[in-house]
Amino acid sequence: MTWLSELFGGGKPVIETASLRDAAKLAQLHAASFHRGWGEGEFESMLAERNTLAHRLRFGRKIIGFAVSRMAADEAEILSIAIDAPQRGKGLSRNLLLTHLGHLAGRGVRTIFLEVEENNLPARRLYERTGFAVVGRRQRYYDHGGEQLNALLMRRDLS
Ligand SMILES: CC(C)(COP(=O)(O)OP(=O)(O)OC[C@H]1O[C@@H](n2cnc3c(N)ncnc32)[C@H](O)[C@@H]1OP(=O)(O)O)[C@@H](O)C(=O)NCCC(=O)NCCS
Repeated sequence: MTWLSELFGGGKPVIETASLRDAAKLAQLHAASFHRGWGEGEFESMLAERNTLAHRLRFGRKIIGFAVSRMAADEAEILSIAIDAPQRGKGLSRNLLLTHLGHLAGRGVRTIFLEVEENNLPARRLYERTGFAVVGRRQRYYDHGGEQLNALLMRRDLS
């Protein structure tokens, strides 16, 4: 048994392309993970666009994470990534993100950007560990119920 299948009682989470049918579940995961959740309709519109790439992390019949990007020519932006709260801290996001990046590379993407809230240490660590570097900082970029937080702009080049 690998460490991953041990963690999941014999099964193993799988990473798959997400489709329109996942919109409701992704919206639910997003709402549980971010201050301003995106609704099912927003996910439906996003997933219907040709320049959107989305992956889901599935364990059995349950979707426990997702990553979604928007592509433009040879650049892409990671719009969102989340893991269901009870499944965090197990290293699952790294495989999900690396697989997602591999698919972006396969679609001709050479440079990836993303924004992350400065105090979001698990996310920053995830991005640093997957090859992203800070290339900019936006002061008071996010407003979380009156609390203004800085954003870091990160970039990774794919070879
Ligand atoms: C960010 C997120 C996707 C990471 O997923 P995950 O599968 O739980 O991540 P991991 O278990 O691989 O942890 C990521 C890293 O952060 C570290 N970490 C976890 N909690 C931490 C904390 N409170 N402080 C500092 N580092 C922390 C882990 O040790 C790991 O680093 P390592 O690989 O060096 O051990 C997940 O926390 C999440 O869904 N958060 C809510 C949504 C979100 O913020 N998304 C990112 C938006 S930019």
